[in-house]
Amino acid sequence: MKKTRVCELLGIQYPILQGGMLWLADAGLAAAVSNAGGLGVISPMAGMKPHGNPVKNLDKQIVRAKELTDQPFGVNIPLDLRDCGLLMEVILEHEVRVVITAAGDPRLYTELLQSAHTRVIHVVSSVKHAKVAEEAGVDALVCEGVEAAARNGYDELPLFSLIPQVADAVRIPIIAAGGIADSRGIAAAFALGAEGVQLGTRFVAVQENIAHPNYKDAIVNAGDTDTAITCRPLIPSRSLKNTEFSQVLLAMEQAGASADAIREFMGHAASRRAGLEGDLDNGEAYCGSSAGLVREITTAKEVIQSLVAGYPGVVKKL
Ligand SMILES: Cc1cc2nc3c(=O)[nH]c(=O)nc-3n(C[C@H](O)[C@H](O)[C@H](O)COP(=O)(O)O)c2cc1C
Repeated sequence: MKKTRVCELLGIQYPILQGGMLWLADAGLAAAVSNAGGLGVISPMAGMKPHGNPVKNLDKQIVRAKELTDQPFGVNIPLDLRDCGLLMEVILEHEVRVVITAAGDPRLYTELLQSAHTRVIHVVSSVKHAKVAEEAGVDALVCEGVEAAARNGYDELPLFSLIPQVADAVRIPIIAAGGIADSRGIAAAFALGAEGVQLGTRFVAVQENIAHPNYKDAIVNAGDTDTAITCRPLIPSRSLKNTEFSQVLLAMEQAGASADAIREFMGHAASRRAGLEGDLDNGEAYCGSSAGLVREITTAKEVIQSLVAGYPGVVKKL
């Protein structure tokens, strides 16, 4: 697989990132991906109790990641989390080299992080937000299409239209996310103008992910039509649709439920209940539309190796 600007920027062998995953992306997963030549990413709340302390948890995860790998890894910070400033302090203290910000204003911490030689990548899902992030000085963008698991952009743009339009509008490297689970997806993303990819759903169903087996099995068993966007009055989010939880949410939305009513139904840590506890009927089982391509639970290294090994064959066929 060719070296791109994303490889150079992040100091990695392959331009493949493991996406941040709120309760799931812990040091073990991130280190496994980084050791296999990609960029592993830690989320501050990974493995944490529902009302735990994300700042302490992040500190612990970074220390552990450094024990498990000498390769670069990143931290994902959704900017709507409480305590973002404290989380950034932990990142700076440990000299983490890559931060991927999402769900907020990229102007907030970019300069501070870069002044400490940390690369900043911001997640966007429209041309407008891509331009704002570039103007804020971020080093690269993750462009996430509506195929992606978890929260989506409000305009729900598919990756195939999003990437080329962003590529025409900005000069910084683009990392494509949403719906990519094999080498064909990587080749397509590169053809559209991306120089890297970020996978989430595929890295849930790996041995190193701390996700509950019920959740991993549900992803492996899901087909092309088994996900849906729910939560639109709050923020569109893609999850497995044939669960009690999603069915209630979809019915509430169809009946015109308010954002407050949906928030109340969801309760605290809804994606933790599904992801970590395996209670798919009472929690939000985030899942991307590429789940139909995820057919077995392997190691993270095997995922990276098969993405890399399959790539030349795909390109040759074109
Ligand atoms: C369980 C789960 C939790 C996620 N949580 C976050 C998050 O906290 N922050 C974030 O930026 N993206 C989050 N994502 C999105 C991923 O980082 C990634 O961009 C997305 O899953 C890519 O699309 P795919 O699922 O089709 O591969 C999450 C994805 C999953 C599967």
